[in-house]
Amino acid sequence: MSAPVDPTSTSAWSRLTAARDSFTPDLRGWFAGDPARVERMTHTLGDLHVDLSKNLVTDDILASLVQLAEETGVAERYADMIRGGHVNTTEDRAVLHTALRRPAGASPELVVDGQHVDTDVHEVLDRLSAFAQGVRAGEWRGVTGKKVTHVVNIGIGGSDLGPVMVYEALKPLADAGIEARFVSNIDPTDVAQKTEGLDPETTLFIVASKTFTTLETLTNARLARDWLWARLAATGAIDDTDAARTDAVAHHFVAVSTALDKVADFGIDPSNAFGFWDWVGGRYSVGSAIGLSLAITLGPDAFRELLAGFHVVDEHVASTPLERNVPVLMGLLNVWYTNFLGAQSHAVLPYAQQLHRFPAYLQQLTMESNGKSVRWDGTPVTTDTGEVFWGEPGTNGQHAFYQLIHQGTRLIPADFIAFAQPAYPLEDDGRDVHGLFLANFLAQTKALAFGKTAEEVEAEGTTGALVAARTFPGNRPTTSIFGPALTPSVLGQLIALYEHITFTQGTIWGINSFDQWGVELGKQLALQIAPAIEGDAEALQAQDASTKSLLAYYRSQRP
Ligand code: F6P
Repeated sequence: MSAPVDPTSTSAWSRLTAARDSFTPDLRGWFAGDPARVERMTHTLGDLHVDLSKNLVTDDILASLVQLAEETGVAERYADMIRGGHVNTTEDRAVLHTALRRPAGASPELVVDGQHVDTDVHEVLDRLSAFAQGVRAGEWRGVTGKKVTHVVNIGIGGSDLGPVMVYEALKPLADAGIEARFVSNIDPTDVAQKTEGLDPETTLFIVASKTFTTLETLTNARLARDWLWARLAATGAIDDTDAARTDAVAHHFVAVSTALDKVADFGIDPSNAFGFWDWVGGRYSVGSAIGLSLAITLGPDAFRELLAGFHVVDEHVASTPLERNVPVLMGLLNVWYTNFLGAQSHAVLPYAQQLHRFPAYLQQLTMESNGKSVRWDGTPVTTDTGEVFWGEPGTNGQHAFYQLIHQGTRLIPADFIAFAQPAYPLEDDGRDVHGLFLANFLAQTKALAFGKTAEEVEAEGTTGALVAARTFPGNRPTTSIFGPALTPSVLGQLIALYEHITFTQGTIWGINSFDQWGVELGKQLALQIAPAIEGDAEALQAQDASTKSLLAYYRSQRP
């Protein structure tokens, strides 16, 4: 891997700095003086209509940003990534989530490090589809011969957030009478509440863990296994023998992992396990077998449609010139806001209740990827990196935090995501409720862009100090991402869009977006502190004063 280009040393950076120094954003003026702005800055990405016109950029600034992508080699690094280059330098791995969604028979065949990637991907996908179909059709049965009605995915991070986000987004398509639940937190509340009301005879647990070493997931899997055994034994469905318990696990536990040996150690038959590969990062893994819960609940066809949606965007990124390449442009806008206009966070505001977990999903995708201070060659980054991504679905956010976006002192670029067709076309007194919902999306992006001047406020009869309070400065940047309907394909497109935005930013900053060493220290310390929680004097003694004091409080209050 070649050394990263220092973005601050490029001529594009100098041009952008000069542009920033004399920059006065003026969306009102730009719109009034340039009737073609919207058309020029609106792009089609698969089924998505992406309007960038309400961003704080001129054509010149956009051109400089595109030049920055050229000078930092975004297109070249993407090409390297999708053909299997080891762009994950700290783990010396290829990064091939894009291979998960290549169609069967894609040409030329992808062979990486001696592995026939396309063949392996489709072998697992076919096996997963057949398994999912068997569960849906009632061919796979529980230990007492009953059809599965609930799947419980046990995983965390990428082994949870992707599946739960997609499930929530596409739940209206769940058509096989099978509901999914998701257990992630090691807080025992999670497993206790998620198993509440379940019938053990009709529940299938999926233990989803890339490494199969994650403390939370393995603990929860053991708790779920105990729950299964206890509940089955309580009703007399199984007797109290090892053989009966092993049989119960065989009928009620499957696994998804890259570590199939560890799956077997847990007691899950490897023939009930679905593999993937170390070149799929956890937060990029929803298109791998990690999506098993989706293939079961939504159906294998919907799952393949999701993958096809991802592929549309992968192809777009690979084949579209940078100046029209939507994920690249959106990544560049984020760089503009972060490095030149001082933005520290980025809001993602879906006008689709079904996407209520999308901001949480994006938090892992973007922040675990680009929350780094060193570059892929180990040298320090040369500029700020990694915004805080956050958000909630509209219109709930409007009644909570939009005040700060509209009138606060901080610049918060926001992505608005909406769909023309509702999943539930309900009417209120003859009025289309979804239309009303979308009117809010349009109103908010308009208010943020154009604001309301003091003169306009006064013209409404407001006087005195209230004028300032009721004035909206405008020039608050937004991107509108509009789709026809939230179908599996459209959702795949949306996810891939953000994956490649993240990649673009990471490349410009010189970051390896595919490792996550920053989560390791906390994991190690938790293991060291665990004995102190149990009262181990030596472990307690080894702690710092604050941790000791917190432990003392805990021990005084524990049940
Ligand atoms: O939080 C760190 C992390 O490694 C994530 O990147 C990953 O998605 C998550 O833990 C779960 O890991 P695994 O799938 O190996 O259990």
